[in-house]
Amino acid sequence: MVPVPLGIGLLDALTFVDDRQYDLIFDHTFFCALHPEDRPAFGDLARRLIGRGGLVCSIVFPAGKHLDSGGPPWGMETAALTAALGPDFQVIEDRPVADCGHPSWDERWAAFSRV
Ligand SMILES: C[S@@+](CC[C@H](N)C(=O)[O-])C[C@H]1O[C@@H](n2cnc3c(N)ncnc32)[C@H](O)[C@@H]1O
Repeated sequence: MVPVPLGIGLLDALTFVDDRQYDLIFDHTFFCALHPEDRPAFGDLARRLIGRGGLVCSIVFPAGKHLDSGGPPWGMETAALTAALGPDFQVIEDRPVADCGHPSWDERWAAFSRV
């Protein structure tokens, strides 16, 4: 087993820079909290931090909610993540989450690998 250093930072994630490369970004309703204009900055973050073969995994929520109806949470589809991450990332999983529990919106699980 390889020891993994862990830390917690209070910071603006979108402007976070680090010399290290990371294996995983887990987006648990962070992307949908961002104003849609800030979504490209999420892609920039992923390209800065995730090395080749690393993952961006996301709870895609609220799926099926129109952007016009405002936020946060802003409506989110896997395609929005695909657009933000750009061609450096390839979708490897994109599936609905059963019984997400929300009466109006759906939830998906999406994973992208850095190519
Ligand atoms: C819907 S909450 C999700 C929190 C947590 N992931 C969870 O599932 O309980 C969205 C979070 O994103 C944070 N957030 C929004 N923009 C941010 C930014 N630029 N940098 C760091 N955190 C941010 C908000 O403060 C909020 O805590």
